[in-house]
Amino acid sequence: MRLKVVALFAARAGAWLRKGLCMDAGPIISATAVVKTYRTREVVVDALKHVDFEVMPGEMVAVMGPSGSGKTTLLNCMSGLDSIDSGDVSIAGQLLRTMSDDALSDYRATSMGFVFQAYNLLPVLSAQENVELPLMLAGTSSKEAQARAVEKLELVGLGDRTDHLPAELSGGQQQRVAIARALANDPAIVWGDELTGNLDSTNSAEIMELLTRLNKEQHQTFVIVTHSEEVGALADRIVRMNDGVIVDDGSRGDDYSASAGSYGTTAGAED
Ligand SMILES: Nc1ncnc2c1ncn2[C@@H]1O[C@H](COP(=O)(O)OP(=O)(O)OP(=O)(O)O)[C@@H](O)[C@H]1O
Ligand SMILES: [Mg+2]
Repeated sequence: MRLKVVALFAARAGAWLRKGLCMDAGPIISATAVVKTYRTREVVVDALKHVDFEVMPGEMVAVMGPSGSGKTTLLNCMSGLDSIDSGDVSIAGQLLRTMSDDALSDYRATSMGFVFQAYNLLPVLSAQENVELPLMLAGTSSKEAQARAVEKLELVGLGDRTDHLPAELSGGQQQRVAIARALANDPAIVWGDELTGNLDSTNSAEIMELLTRLNKEQHQTFVIVTHSEEVGALADRIVRMNDGVIVDDGSRGDDYSASAGSYGTTAGAED
């Protein structure tokens, strides 16, 4: 029991420390003049055309735009899942292009969480074991991984479903497990791509309520791609893309306070 309390405290202290450090360091993501071109045998697609992008710690940013406008490409390139052709991306002050593939993989595993439209849970593992996976991969001891998985499942409101297999959970609950899994390593950023895309409007609203709570209470930074104006309206800022370009970055006001994790003004869709 004491070990569990110590493990939980250590996990929380780590998160506070990381967020504190990030706040002092300016933008958590800073990208300048990013170009990404896909070349197939038939076509060349300029998916990102000199894109500048910045996210402050504690911000919740929605990325919106028509299909094919480059939203997923932006997410993949900003998170280091995909390489870029030119420009620079730095996360928490570190330039991605200076990191080796191994260092980048480690960084992604420990400092970034991902949530997609498909829940991607392993069907033979319980909710708790699914959340334990990224912790074990990051080298966390089995005992601590168990305690932290339970903590994260409680955080997303599934403390009473830890032993359920994915098939024994509703779609909304499975997405909550995926969110708990993304939060497992106390990531500096959680990236979401159409994470409410498979859910009905009630479940979608509940998931967004959860994300908003995690953002306000835990100061968790989120960058979420969405087609839904309702989902986008809950973000601090909406970045709009069209044809590989950011046409509106929903600029923050000067009175943005990173430590508060929200805006002092009504920045958002209407700005
Ligand atoms: N691996 C790839 N190879 C070639 N072209 C690609 C590749 N991935 C994306 N593209 C092209 O890049 C452009 C941007 O795609 P992207 O997936 O970023 O769009 P999106 O805004 O996420 O669209 P959606 O809302 O439909 O998910 C599209 O024209 C797409 O066809
Ligand atoms: Mg996409």
